[in-house]
Amino acid sequence: RARRYATLSWATARSVAGGAVQEKALRLAEARRLTFLVRAPGGVGGTRIGELPDRLEPSAAAVPPLRVALLGCGAVGGGVLHHLLDRRQRFTLVGVAVRDRRGAPAELPPHLAVTPEELAARPADVLVELAGGTGVEPWIAGALACGRHVVTANKALLAERGASLRNLAGERDVSLRTSAAVGGALPALEAVGRLAQGPGVRALRGVLNGTSSFVLDRLAAGDSLAAAAAEARRRGFAEADPTLDLDGSDAAQKLVLLVRAAWGSDLAAARELDWRQVPRRGIAEASVAAGPPGAVWRLVAQAAIDGGRLQVAVAPEPLPAGDFLATSAEAGNALEVVSASGEVVHLAAQGAGRWPTAEAVLADLEELWRDHAASFDAAGAAEVHDEVPLAAAGEVAS
Ligand code: HSE
Repeated sequence: RARRYATLSWATARSVAGGAVQEKALRLAEARRLTFLVRAPGGVGGTRIGELPDRLEPSAAAVPPLRVALLGCGAVGGGVLHHLLDRRQRFTLVGVAVRDRRGAPAELPPHLAVTPEELAARPADVLVELAGGTGVEPWIAGALACGRHVVTANKALLAERGASLRNLAGERDVSLRTSAAVGGALPALEAVGRLAQGPGVRALRGVLNGTSSFVLDRLAAGDSLAAAAAEARRRGFAEADPTLDLDGSDAAQKLVLLVRAAWGSDLAAARELDWRQVPRRGIAEASVAAGPPGAVWRLVAQAAIDGGRLQVAVAPEPLPAGDFLATSAEAGNALEVVSASGEVVHLAAQGAGRWPTAEAVLADLEELWRDHAASFDAAGAAEVHDEVPLAAAGEVAS
């Protein structure tokens, strides 16, 4: 019967936390008037302790799951499907639009396999779009216009139409979440956005296309381009049309999204940058046999503000082994961001493939669930903490 507190004052926390939060930490926080959140790593919700009323969370039964419509069930969609079926307390899958029902994953219940038209007609709170390509814009715009949140990994569409989709989301007061569009499991847009809001961004450079890294390593090991690209497709790294990976288009689209996150609020050139204008060379132009000894070839996307002007480029480069970007292996991505104050931030993670990308989609969905659950918080407001058995104390740190 344990229930979790949504919020607690420092004083009540001292009496109910039962050692789950250190007494001295509570004293320090109270003396400095600090509010903090106690939550399990990777957990959802948690207890905020500060100058706050003692208030219980609504019971889990009081928060209905988010209804999710999934458009696209290929490499990444199949991973998201698996995660959603595993989290039925938070998410109810209302339908999955698959290109070909015969190719649908075995774990997809047949009654959920629908056409995009049928999917759009089903009541839902969130559309997760993983079909890719710019042709899905009407489904995304339609969902936003109906007041649905959208989670998408579609860098091609966001690079082309991101601004108008964001405006539409703003008008309807819904979220457009795009963590998976750049960097797979690497929180690239989040990190750049946070630096932009803080000290500002001076420059960034990254390995943003996992297929290119994979293929370049295979070329260096003596494979042919065709065999390496076919293997990247088989592993679920490459786009449906791998030319976009190999000629730098995919990296240019991702670079445009990072440029907007870094400078879009101040610089028209960043807001209006068209990915086709990004000077780019693909990996076919890499001479993997050349370069200094020990060099690692990577397709590098970079952007900087130089004398007030935006400079962007995508090109293969032989990186010295000590370069942070050279540490990316397989389909790994790496990003180096230099803040306006000169601080250098490094991020690296798996950037392509089913599970890393599905994790990023799931992170966006969990954020939506957190907001959704918080909107039910008010229901707990009337309950006072002393109606709760002391067993609740352990839950403070659950
Ligand atoms: N084709 C992309 C890549 C997938 O190889 O990086 C992730 O965006």
